[in-house]
Amino acid sequence: MKRLPFIAGNWKMNKTVEEALDLVRSLKASLKDIKDVEVAIAPPFTALHPVSQELKGSSIHLAGQNLFWEEKGAFTGEISPVMLKEINCRYAIIGHSERRQFFGETDETVNRRIRAALNQGLRVIFCVGETLQEREKGINFLVVERQIEGGLKDLGEKAIQSLVIAYEPVWAIGTGKTATPQQAEEVHQFIRQKMRFLYSPKIAENLRIQYGGSVTPENIKSLMDQEDIDGALVGGASLNADSFSRIVRFKEM
Ligand code: PGA
Repeated sequence: MKRLPFIAGNWKMNKTVEEALDLVRSLKASLKDIKDVEVAIAPPFTALHPVSQELKGSSIHLAGQNLFWEEKGAFTGEISPVMLKEINCRYAIIGHSERRQFFGETDETVNRRIRAALNQGLRVIFCVGETLQEREKGINFLVVERQIEGGLKDLGEKAIQSLVIAYEPVWAIGTGKTATPQQAEEVHQFIRQKMRFLYSPKIAENLRIQYGGSVTPENIKSLMDQEDIDGALVGGASLNADSFSRIVRFKEM
């Protein structure tokens, strides 16, 4: 059994509403006939609702880039899972390395966010990955293991079925330095093995693991050719309709 490939675009803090609508219209046109690949985009919060309206009837799914774990209340500046759900977000990206690096996200807060998202019926793209320093010290597997154990604490088998893991080595994000397919595959294998141990062979077998970090139309095919790479979380190259569509169409290369 091969898992359904999943390509997601993380727009980060890019695109005004007008620019977001332009991009999404182009994507709708260029990905109209896409089958056998799941596609999602994560615009910034201000553009989510208009983009959601524009996506009605399209097979492209919507994702939030983050969320807070409470449903509502006095939490200035935060967005709740309920709010994302209301505007038809299917996914939330949680634990992105930029959140960990610049906004104080820890394994514990990642875990709270994941639990809240899943409780509200959202699916989760859970990001893990080591820094360059950690890789050079040879502790990359340990770091990923710690992030997985911490991020998934107290989550049962059923919840895990709504989860995708994105392996994003921090040194490869936005740097143009992609992990080689072999470097990525070895961590993906490790993650699957870990999930087999933490949950069950079936859960591990069905789990989709995306790679992220300088994915381009040029390198996507060799990454997707790896047994345990089931998709990609794309940053920079998702900001342009042509390059993102070419990534989604990796099978045609
Ligand atoms: P990048 O970002 O493709 O620009 O390297 C990937 C990510 O951060 O998800």
